Amino acid sequence: MRVVSAEGVGSTSLLLAVARAAESRRPDRLFTDPYAAEFAAAAPALPDLPMESGARRTALADYLAVRTRFFDDSLVEAANFGCRQVVQLGAGLDTRAFRLDWPADTTVFEIDQPAVLEFKESVLERCAATPRSGRVVVPADLTAGWATALVDAGFDPAERTVWSAEGVLYYLTAEEGDRVMVALGERTAPGGRFVVEHITREVEGSVTLSGVRSELARRRAEWRSHVDDPVAWLRGHGWHVRLFTPNELLAASGRQPEGEGAEARTIGWLAVCER
Ligand SMILES: C[S@@+](CC[C@H](N)C(=O)[O-])C[C@H]1O[C@@H](n2cnc3c(N)ncnc32)[C@H](O)[C@@H]1O
Repeated sequence: MRVVSAEGVGSTSLLLAVARAAESRRPDRLFTDPYAAEFAAAAPALPDLPMESGARRTALADYLAVRTRFFDDSLVEAANFGCRQVVQLGAGLDTRAFRLDWPADTTVFEIDQPAVLEFKESVLERCAATPRSGRVVVPADLTAGWATALVDAGFDPAERTVWSAEGVLYYLTAEEGDRVMVALGERTAPGGRFVVEHITREVEGSVTLSGVRSELARRRAEWRSHVDDPVAWLRGHGWHVRLFTPNELLAASGRQPEGEGAEARTIGWLAVCER
């Protein structure tokens, strides 16, 4: 089996698998991802989110769970609204195509680095996993050539699309991120949506995330950009914006962070955008 490297930005997908496997074991889980534990088991030696402890660790694990559920709900809502193409930018080891209830004739396109997708496919094949939507994997780099690869894989820019950028834009530079925004904007038919998460400059001084940042630096997967005024940024790229803070989503899910973890409210944002 091809094993994704424990270093580099692709390895961040494994941290998500570890977090989703842990959430899936909770009695009060926000989702069940039956494949997350399979990815984690097949991966090279992994930390069990050891980079934080106590309230900070709880806040991080809860945030990743709440974020996953936010993207689950927002993407299915967009599909039900008529966006039957779902494009996940930096899809990693996400398994939404297999675990969510999609309308018939939905196709999920998963873009990520070739090594990540090879590892993903080998594990899913071994599990005999069957998608609950159309599913197309698109091995491509978000810094070059991905839009052509997406169209070559069967994506139709004239059809309504919901784009997803979960845990990915900050691995690109600001310039690379802007180029992605322009390219996806040019391929969004009227009625399209964009579900997105990003960080703000606050992460640089964040106590909550200092261990995460060291771990990512050790893996050579540093965060390389942030967006401090999401409404202006998204409007500038032609989107109408509904903005959410991590803390309001955490509170709505009964996972209100406490103590040191409460700092999470300042370090990022999530949005559902429409055209
Ligand atoms: C933290 S993971 C998140 C994965 C997925 N969105 C999820 O929530 O499970 C970040 C993903 O972005 C991918 N990624 C980062 N930079 C990329 C690039 N330039 N081209 C393609 N994929 C990239 C990584 O390979 C990794 O799978």
